[in-house]
Amino acid sequence: MRNLWVILTIFTICMQHQFPYNNASTIRLTNFICQSHNESWISVHVCRLKAINRNKIVLNFNATMHNTCYELSTTLQLYKKANGYKPWLYNSSVDICKFTRKPYNPFAIMIYKVMRQYSNMNHTCPYGGPLIITGLHVKYSDLLPFPSGDYLAKLDWYCFKRKQLSTDLYFKSDEGLLKS
Ligand SMILES: *[C@@H]1O[C@H](CO)[C@@H](O)[C@H](O)[C@H]1NC(C)=O
Ligand SMILES: *[C@@H]1O[C@H](CO)[C@@H](O)[C@H](O)[C@H]1NC(C)=O
Ligand SMILES: *[C@@H]1O[C@H](CO)[C@@H](O)[C@H](O)[C@H]1NC(C)=O
Ligand SMILES: *[C@@H]1O[C@H](CO)[C@@H](O)[C@H](O)[C@H]1NC(C)=O
Repeated sequence: MRNLWVILTIFTICMQHQFPYNNASTIRLTNFICQSHNESWISVHVCRLKAINRNKIVLNFNATMHNTCYELSTTLQLYKKANGYKPWLYNSSVDICKFTRKPYNPFAIMIYKVMRQYSNMNHTCPYGGPLIITGLHVKYSDLLPFPSGDYLAKLDWYCFKRKQLSTDLYFKSDEGLLKS
């Protein structure tokens, strides 16, 4: 399945070079839910989507890490909606400290490229203090081509080998095909 997606992606990118880019393709953030599992490690102040206009929804996040974390890691699980949210293709974990020294996971690199400019997490370990994402806007062209549908990207953050924070991002992909 994963190989199929890679092949499809390469195919799509080739097609995009053959034909004008399909401007009708959109990614729309639909919900964002955060939960601290350890209030003495992290407090979440803002976890919110905001509509700037009809076509643009941005993500804001503001939290405080009360202790310094020297070994931060995250798991990312992708789900797609089909009679409830079902696991979909991607499930892996990334060692953030290793990653920020030398990016190594293609999917994580893609996400990091999108977030970097909006977040203060764009430095190497350790992490501590304010954790801010301001006005993050995701464009379809920033990502691999997601088939139309509703998705959930579930990110769990680990420090001291324990889950400390969950951030669940729901989004809708529309390839903009077959519309007249
Ligand atoms: C919660 O966070 C504190 C540091 O802020 C840490 O000392 C403690 O081990 C954490 N608790 C758990 C269950 O991970
Ligand atoms: C984040 O939230 C804290 C606590 O509410 C606040 O003091 C701080 O100004 C906020 N930071 C940003 C960048 O909004
Ligand atoms: C992802 O992998 C972990 C560990 O292998 C597993 O516990 C978890 O259930 C998996 N999640 C999904 C959505 O398949
Ligand atoms: C890192 O984040 C800061 C604060 O959000 C921002 O001003 C800066 O441009 C970012 N740096 C990079 C390399 O993206």
